[in-house]
Amino acid sequence: MNSIKEEKQVVSKKRVADHGEVYTSKREVQSMLDLVRRETERIESRFLEPACGTGNFLAEILERKLRIVENRYSKGQLEYERNAVLAVSSIYGIDILEDNVVECRKRLFDIFGQKYSSLFKEAVKAECQKTVKYILEKNIIWGNALDLKTVGANPQPIVFSEWSPVNGSMLKRRDFTFHGLLDHEAIKELPLFSDLGDDVFIPTPVKEFPLIHFLRVGDADK
Ligand SMILES: C[S@@+](CC[C@H](N)C(=O)[O-])C[C@H]1O[C@@H](n2cnc3c(N)ncnc32)[C@H](O)[C@@H]1O
Repeated sequence: MNSIKEEKQVVSKKRVADHGEVYTSKREVQSMLDLVRRETERIESRFLEPACGTGNFLAEILERKLRIVENRYSKGQLEYERNAVLAVSSIYGIDILEDNVVECRKRLFDIFGQKYSSLFKEAVKAECQKTVKYILEKNIIWGNALDLKTVGANPQPIVFSEWSPVNGSMLKRRDFTFHGLLDHEAIKELPLFSDLGDDVFIPTPVKEFPLIHFLRVGDADK
């Protein structure tokens, strides 16, 4: 995993000047994640890397989660698949450079795909691979983490999809704007006994989707 490419911390002087693109080394990533080790090993724990580059933190988090999934569930393929999808679906990233976003999605997919194939060989399911690809398309966003909008021809508010397992194999997707979630975080930072009274702020989804079997997610837009 720890290839020379991943360890290269600068791509070009121009990208450093334009976008502050200097990558964190694997050793630093590991030390920082060790500070929250228990969360990185909780399969459903949600992480957002808001300037993710090619995903140095997200890749390490996914590897840690998948090690737990393998230890617990590798004897049953369906259980492994459900939990591996859960691990992927709780990982989010944003980057302003499109090539980084594309590489980040591919890198995370390959971490999942290589482990999945090595465990289940010819029994791997194309639908499961499609589900993971689809979720990574949604969760790793080409956007600007400062103005909270997507980048490209028609910038839109950044939207994150929440994926929650229901009754084992079903998934519920709810979409939230990044802006709305940050408002929520700000409220949570208030002192414990603030004078907000009973007004508890709960973010409202901008869209809710019907329940879907986790192996059909890749066909959701058809
Ligand atoms: C210092 S690198 C860090 C990459 C990765 N998080 C790491 O630690 O290895 C900063 C990244 O932020 C991206 N970036 C710069 N400005 C951004 C913005 N406003 N919104 C989202 N990403 C941004 C750059 O493209 C670059 O990939």
